[in-house]
Amino acid sequence: MSRLDDASVSRAVDPQGMLRVALDLPHQVREAWTIGSAASLPRLAGPPVHLVFAGMGGSAIGGDLLAAFAGVRLAIPMVVVRDSRLPAFVGSRSVVFATSYSGETEETLVLAGQAVRAGATLIAITRGGRLAEMAGPHGTTIRVPGGLAPRAALGYLMISALAVLERWNLAGPCGAEVEEAARTLEQIAAETDPAVPTARNAAKRLAEQLTGCIPAVYAASPEVEAAARRWKCQFNENSKTLATWNVFPELNHNETVGWEAPPEIARMFAVVVLLAGDEAQQVRRQVRLASDLAFRPAAGVHEVHGRGEGRLARLLSLVMLGDLTSIYLAYLRGVDPTPVAMIETLKQRMRPEGSPPPP
Ligand code: PA5
Repeated sequence: MSRLDDASVSRAVDPQGMLRVALDLPHQVREAWTIGSAASLPRLAGPPVHLVFAGMGGSAIGGDLLAAFAGVRLAIPMVVVRDSRLPAFVGSRSVVFATSYSGETEETLVLAGQAVRAGATLIAITRGGRLAEMAGPHGTTIRVPGGLAPRAALGYLMISALAVLERWNLAGPCGAEVEEAARTLEQIAAETDPAVPTARNAAKRLAEQLTGCIPAVYAASPEVEAAARRWKCQFNENSKTLATWNVFPELNHNETVGWEAPPEIARMFAVVVLLAGDEAQQVRRQVRLASDLAFRPAAGVHEVHGRGEGRLARLLSLVMLGDLTSIYLAYLRGVDPTPVAMIETLKQRMRPEGSPPPP
């Protein structure tokens, strides 16, 4: 019997229930849509000229996924900023989503302060903290439920922002796609539940296949690049292991050559290719060619396919499968998926005790 089919393992290594929260993503998506739809929004002086999504780590990835989904519907550009400096173009016709689950991340607080000073409309999305106080007269705070690890609140952070875009007529109607995504995620939750044995559970099986390897997560196309980045970060934070990510077709122009590395290095990596599920033949062909020609030295090449009809369902289904795989991999490694001690230590050391809050 696989270790993953022994219920006592999850009780022992996951006392805060990261797996339970990951399986709850469909509910989180629906609740976030309700939260974003009900939030009181500031009146826009005029149509915004661009959208900025500011955040770090688990709070920033929602912006990448939002851009991947809504980017094809938006008539204005959207950029994600992971930094302490907003682009110089931010001004009174900008909308800035400052997203920090804790509400205490220094970089995001600094960006929110810059947005206010630039006269931008600020939408703070957080469970509380200092960020919740910053929106002022030209903004608002969307409060999401507390008690989660920031990366486990992805549904809240992303989907509440999507509801705002719909309400401001920036992304067209999205409600039906949100509901379809939630239904697709429910199916995945049923199929990857810990009670489903490894032989029939795709997330458990992939976690076993990745044990002892460094996952190299490749998006088959830019449409699912944000999902590949999410997988990489979830392997880092949940499984406590190294991982990399890249995207086709760009990686055909550089990383494929890197597979000529000494074989003892190349075979430490296992490739996971993420496919949206509705790719053109040409996209599948380039993945097949690179797998046959370049990735041969890898410990394994695995494909994961997005599910559902709509772009949002396909993106979020890939995200959910990655979240679950990373948690099952943590179980196999015997590590608790929730704590991220190094992130906490670095945050503390970067902000000397007693220092004033950022401007
Ligand atoms: O998932 C995590 O714990 C991190 O990646 C955090 O999201 C990151 O450190 C930023 O913190 P916050 O999301 O609270 O702004």
